[in-house]
Amino acid sequence: MVFSGSKEVSLRPFRMSDKERLVELANNKNISINLRDGFPHPYNIDDAERFIKNCINQNPVLNFAIELDGLYVGNIGLVMGKDVYRKSAEIGYFLGEPYWNMGIMSEAVNLMVDFGFENLDIVRIHTGVFEYNMASQRVLEKCGFYKEAVFKRAVFKNRRIWDEVRYAKLKTE
Ligand SMILES: CC(C)(COP(=O)(O)OP(=O)(O)OC[C@H]1O[C@@H](n2cnc3c(N)ncnc32)[C@H](O)[C@@H]1OP(=O)(O)O)[C@@H](O)C(=O)NCCC(=O)NCCS
Repeated sequence: MVFSGSKEVSLRPFRMSDKERLVELANNKNISINLRDGFPHPYNIDDAERFIKNCINQNPVLNFAIELDGLYVGNIGLVMGKDVYRKSAEIGYFLGEPYWNMGIMSEAVNLMVDFGFENLDIVRIHTGVFEYNMASQRVLEKCGFYKEAVFKRAVFKNRRIWDEVRYAKLKTE
């Protein structure tokens, strides 16, 4: 399945042949400082292979490669909530640094949200952003997410405590 927004930005499932390019995009401290510690740094070929293997085995597929004019430039995905949170999903994403500030992730988030609300039995998509990550907060605001809360001192990253800013978007009937 491939789905497209503007002429340039589209989402598609991963293939194992993406693994070298994934390392090239993901092995970057400026990316990992904005993500949970489960996102490795340095990011090596084994990390890429493990990630893509999981994506390929997913059913339904919830992780996608972002393409800019056919070139793989970043990752985006949803994680389904469990138990009483099963009608919600968390969104996560990163883009290779050379492609920042061109509007690509705003486009990709809109595509992912439309996909989620149209194809999954969910009513809410949410995420948490570290307080210093203004670009990601801006992306979410541009995509119609609203700031729900600030979880004070919730995050320990890079040996320091930070607030987490929580955003959500609800399905409109
Ligand atoms: C966050 C990230 C996905 C943004 O992707 P992107 O394609 O550059 O985003 P867009 O171009 O669609 O929008 C970025 C917006 O943030 C703004 N911005 C960028 N840096 C900023 C800063 N330091 N302060 C305030 N605004 C900033 C841009 O001006 C732009 O807003 P505008 O369109 O109103 O001018 C990308 O920087 C990234 O991958 N970062 C590392 C991983 C990450 O943070 N993932 C999300 C974790 S919650």
